[in-house]
Amino acid sequence: MDKMIVHGGSLLQGEVTMSGSKNSALPILAATLLTREPCIIEHVPDLSDIHYMLTILNMLGSEVERASGIVKVRATHLRTEAPYDIVRKMRASVCILGPLLGREHAATVSLPGGCVIGDRPIDLHLRGFEELGATVQVKGGDIHLLASHLHGTTIHLRGKYGPTVLGTGNIMMAAVLAEGTTVIEGAATEPEVTDLAEVLIKMGARIHGSGTSRIIIEGVRELHGFRHTIIPDRIEAGTFLIAAAMAGKKVTLHRVIPQHLEALLHVLEEAGVPLKIKKESITITASPSLKALSIETLPFPGFATDLQAQLSAMLCTTQGVSTITEHVFPQRFMHLAELKRMGANIELDGARATIIGVDQLSGAPVMASDLRASAALVLAALRADGPTEINRVYHIDRGYEGIDRKLNKLGAKIQRIQE
Ligand code: EPU
Repeated sequence: MDKMIVHGGSLLQGEVTMSGSKNSALPILAATLLTREPCIIEHVPDLSDIHYMLTILNMLGSEVERASGIVKVRATHLRTEAPYDIVRKMRASVCILGPLLGREHAATVSLPGGCVIGDRPIDLHLRGFEELGATVQVKGGDIHLLASHLHGTTIHLRGKYGPTVLGTGNIMMAAVLAEGTTVIEGAATEPEVTDLAEVLIKMGARIHGSGTSRIIIEGVRELHGFRHTIIPDRIEAGTFLIAAAMAGKKVTLHRVIPQHLEALLHVLEEAGVPLKIKKESITITASPSLKALSIETLPFPGFATDLQAQLSAMLCTTQGVSTITEHVFPQRFMHLAELKRMGANIELDGARATIIGVDQLSGAPVMASDLRASAALVLAALRADGPTEINRVYHIDRGYEGIDRKLNKLGAKIQRIQE
């Protein structure tokens, strides 16, 4: 298992280009199962989660080719079963359910296991499939979906914690080949859902309203191959913006879509960080001192839960008292215990963390618990006195393409140790 040693104290400076979005690429790769024709996807990031998805597609019978960010998939013949061994490695593998059900009217996929960011049910996905006409059975750890035919209907997808991102994608992918019209009420409005809808439209689907909470899908008989470039990763960009706000002199991010980052940009401005925003780049310059903040995570366009841990790291050394309330995954606070080991002053009460800024964090051995928590530890380590040893960095490799390489290019001192 690799670990990283981060030597804190360097100031970040220079330019860095963002990779394609992981959370956009995963369901779009799954969408290739909807057609026998070849599909070409560009700007696919080189990440272990992407590798798992390509393995799953291959196991289902797709021919997969990959070369420097371009992935070609052709799903001529399909199997409809994905076993636990591979599915357990990545929760997002549930997004093959929708396309398998849509095209083959059958799917057997292992129920994904627990997740460190909290209980992650898929009840809303399954209810949606049932409403489209599938029978759903959970037996022996597997989800079995079967339908004689799928029919359009109105599906309310909003759950206790708001809309579901992968659930919206899954229902869209099942409904594009259903008979008649499906209306998804309470749909997720995240840019990754819109990117998937654009791909489905390129394939011949009839979809209106993506990016709003009401998506209308008129079923078609058949879908075609497509060529698509994945949108830039807004969470990677957000992570680099927060890193630059904490430990930067002047950093420019290229290949970003500022509209996807509005909530974070607003928060950084409120904290006093000078920003220069252009069409596809953002430049951030050092602020002598940051102001304390009160943040609530919310579905898009609100402040993203996937940036909560990284912002927590920033607030650890921001003078004053800040609060963070997590509405999307109320238990997503594993990183706080590790930040406290580095000297942070944080109190957690249910889904609300109170962070009292300290002058300095100190390097310590810490453990990465999930993807965004690991990123938060890297950022905290950049601001810490002395070296921080981050163990289990495979979590970070699931979702950040060369984060150590990119940060080192900006002047950070991060060593990766392969064990
Ligand atoms: N939920 C239910 N029932 C469901 C589905 C979701 O109660 O059937 C709840 C969840 O437990 C959570 C809330 O609804 O409280 C939102 O979950 P959502 O379904 O939107 O999450 P997801 O689609 O499984 C995606 C991203 C996550 C990101 C969330 C929220 C991918 C591959 N994953 O997950 O990304 O945090 O949306 O924006 O797109 C990450 O990249 O680190 C990551 C965890």
